[in-house]
Amino acid sequence: MISILPKASTFRALWFLLVIYQVQATYRLQERYAWNYIDYAFNDINHKVQAQITRNYIPENNLPVGIEVWNDKMFISVPRWKEGIPATLNYISLTDNNSKSPPLIPYPDWKSNELGNCNTGMNTVYRIKADECNRLWVLDTGTYGIGNTTQQLCPYSINVFNLRTNQRIRRFEIPAELIKEGTFIANTVVDVGKSCDDTFAYFSDELAYGMIVYSWAENRAWRFKHGYFFPDPLAGNFTIDGLTFNWDEEGVFGMSLSPRYVTGEKYLYFSPLASNREFAVSTNVLRNSSKVDDSYNDFIALENRAPNSHTTARVMDDYGVQLFNLIDQNAIGCWNSLLPYHPKYHCVVDRDDVGLIFPSDVKVDAHRNVWVMSDRMSNFLQAPEGLNYNEVNFRVYMAPMKVLIQGTVCDVGLEGSRSYHVNELFE
Ligand SMILES: *[C@@H]1O[C@H](CO)[C@@H](O)[C@H](O)[C@H]1NC(C)=O
Ligand SMILES: *[C@@H]1O[C@H](CO)[C@@H](O)[C@H](O)[C@H]1NC(C)=O
Ligand SMILES: *[C@@H]1O[C@H](CO)[C@@H](O)[C@H](O)[C@H]1NC(C)=O
Ligand SMILES: *[C@@H]1O[C@H](CO)[C@@H](O)[C@H](O)[C@H]1NC(C)=O
Repeated sequence: MISILPKASTFRALWFLLVIYQVQATYRLQERYAWNYIDYAFNDINHKVQAQITRNYIPENNLPVGIEVWNDKMFISVPRWKEGIPATLNYISLTDNNSKSPPLIPYPDWKSNELGNCNTGMNTVYRIKADECNRLWVLDTGTYGIGNTTQQLCPYSINVFNLRTNQRIRRFEIPAELIKEGTFIANTVVDVGKSCDDTFAYFSDELAYGMIVYSWAENRAWRFKHGYFFPDPLAGNFTIDGLTFNWDEEGVFGMSLSPRYVTGEKYLYFSPLASNREFAVSTNVLRNSSKVDDSYNDFIALENRAPNSHTTARVMDDYGVQLFNLIDQNAIGCWNSLLPYHPKYHCVVDRDDVGLIFPSDVKVDAHRNVWVMSDRMSNFLQAPEGLNYNEVNFRVYMAPMKVLIQGTVCDVGLEGSRSYHVNELFE
């Protein structure tokens, strides 16, 4: 009998190659952009030289953090943690393939990024969100600096842009009574309901342990408090790229919004940063301002993830598939909300011990493509020597969701059908 199977040794060789390949590089996410350092689309060379002389542009102080994709634009935020950040909200064109390291273009323009201008400028922007009504939601923290160097130059403000006209259509200052000692807000979720007017936005306060809810229709905000917003005191040890440090005070941080389940509700999933646990709450609760002080039993505690699964950013697509960054593992994790929240239904969709060091944001676009930014943030913030600008530090990866989850435990459910069956947690 003639065997049509390759010899076992061939299998071993292939397996070996596969293992090497997986250890060295992402195998599903494709690298689209890579930068050693961030440059900007200055008007001309004089503009750039002036910016460098006046210390308005110091290349090595620029760390890209948040991304968002809308049509052919990828938005990229750069927080003003140090001096020399010329613009905090920027974009690049996805259809311009001239460079793999394109300069960032300030959005909507240079003037709107002016530091310390509390009326028409922006100071520090972290994660940004485009909604299905072609609006871009941008929280300006009003700050300059980080940790004990932070100066509050302007109040926290919610800035909403019309993406078709590139005009700011709203600026809402978060009332002072909703901002607490130590408030630090870096994540934004936008919940469009029955119409574009029926929209709410949720902002997690990592260091003062609250959740601010903003109603677009009422142009008003309120603040939830809850014990689930606090860090797990036993989950404050981090080791990333060989660097060990403590982030033990970091509470509620990454959030993602579910599609509408058959009960008619959407759920906001969240996790404190110093924690391996996931929580959830119906948006019907968050949208109800009478609930702010009396909602203990409305929040749901889900299972713990595996150890060392701290996450700072996550997203859920229209089919209920959640992706989350696994900052201790240089990886992106996945959970399909058709299944119970349990580690046996979680998986790693991609990992790369070079390219995915600190995946800082993960987003899904309207065509169900997944985008990931990685930026070595832990080295930038914690390593005495900082980053090495002779090598690639910042990368943007892309893969269709279908390709990313193919053959994994997340690859279940009826593609194309949006009729959800609530997972057993909610039955
Ligand atoms: C740029 O690259 C993308 C992805 O490879 C492709 O879809 C697009 O058509 C390209 N654009 C141009 C102008 O070549
Ligand atoms: C500020 O924090 C840094 C590091 O977190 C520390 O080295 C420095 O001593 C602190 N400065 C003050 C004035 O507390
Ligand atoms: C954190 O790490 C230190 C040093 O490895 C260890 O001694 C300590 O027990 C750890 N703490 C927790 C809560 O795991
Ligand atoms: C809002 O919450 C209050 C207090 O729990 C409750 O009485 C009221 O019915 C809720 N409103 C809606 C619209 O669910």
